[in-house]
Amino acid sequence: MLLVASTNAELGFAAGMEILHAGGSALDAVEAVIRPVESNPDDHSVGYSGLPNILGQVELDASIMDGKTLAAGAVCAVKHYEHPISIARQVMERLPHVMLAGAGAERFARELGMKKKNLLSDTARAIYESNVSDSPRYNTMRELVSRATHDPEIAASVDDYGDEKRFGTTNVIAIDRAGNFASGVSTSGWAWKYPGRVGDSPIIGAGNYCDNRYGACACTGYGEMAMRANTAHSVVLYMKCGMRLSRAAGEAMRDLRALTVPFPPGMNLIAVDARGKHVGFTTETDRVVEYVYQTETMKTPRKKKRAVVPLSPQKGK
Ligand code: GLY
Repeated sequence: MLLVASTNAELGFAAGMEILHAGGSALDAVEAVIRPVESNPDDHSVGYSGLPNILGQVELDASIMDGKTLAAGAVCAVKHYEHPISIARQVMERLPHVMLAGAGAERFARELGMKKKNLLSDTARAIYESNVSDSPRYNTMRELVSRATHDPEIAASVDDYGDEKRFGTTNVIAIDRAGNFASGVSTSGWAWKYPGRVGDSPIIGAGNYCDNRYGACACTGYGEMAMRANTAHSVVLYMKCGMRLSRAAGEAMRDLRALTVPFPPGMNLIAVDARGKHVGFTTETDRVVEYVYQTETMKTPRKKKRAVVPLSPQKGK
């Protein structure tokens, strides 16, 4: 039995471990760990109180994957529903599809009886207003949106907010008593993103992948990179090809070096092999980045430093 996650998911570990200790499934544990993170008003990277897109609308992405069957469910660009991880789970359980986007995902949530909620908390609105809508350099939202992709000043004003909060996400990998794996990822995505932008979190293979036979991987950080390099699946595939966990994860991190990117990005992953060994990796060299884990015999979660693979090979390994 095991939970491995980004540190912001520690909040849900008690609920997840309770399920695992009671003989519940890894899928149930993953969903139970992520839901309180999605409700946490102090976490501005996930669910309620997540930072909005450039128009001030909170848009959420999430995915969940079952390592036993390789079934997966995902939703993207979902507004008004606090728990995209639960919508994703129901997509996996009830539909012959993997992903629902925007209005379709919201319609499905409504049909399932999920309650709508205003996801923009007062705090997130204040951060947004002070960072975006009150910016003296841009006087209308339309102008902001029309400049969003190409204007370097937009990139500069976004940079002020800092890497961690720009791309925060939560992810969890669980192994249950039966030895089945599950993985889940949930995010409000890139703060001040272009409306409709979808990151790696709901993309199976990019931000999330899970296969009982080899292991699992989930990403946080600048999702466009994981989408282009198919990072989560790469880690699992490298293990299938015979690499040990650390080498597989390190190789997938080094794959990111081939990508050209418009500004200094950050990428992180957690990964678990088929025997339950776990690692965390980050590209960040100027601060310690940790992940959190808990095994069957541990009373409380413990944090562990992620290994660093800088994006620039000159800086290190
Ligand atoms: N990794 C989350 C995102 O880029 O949306």
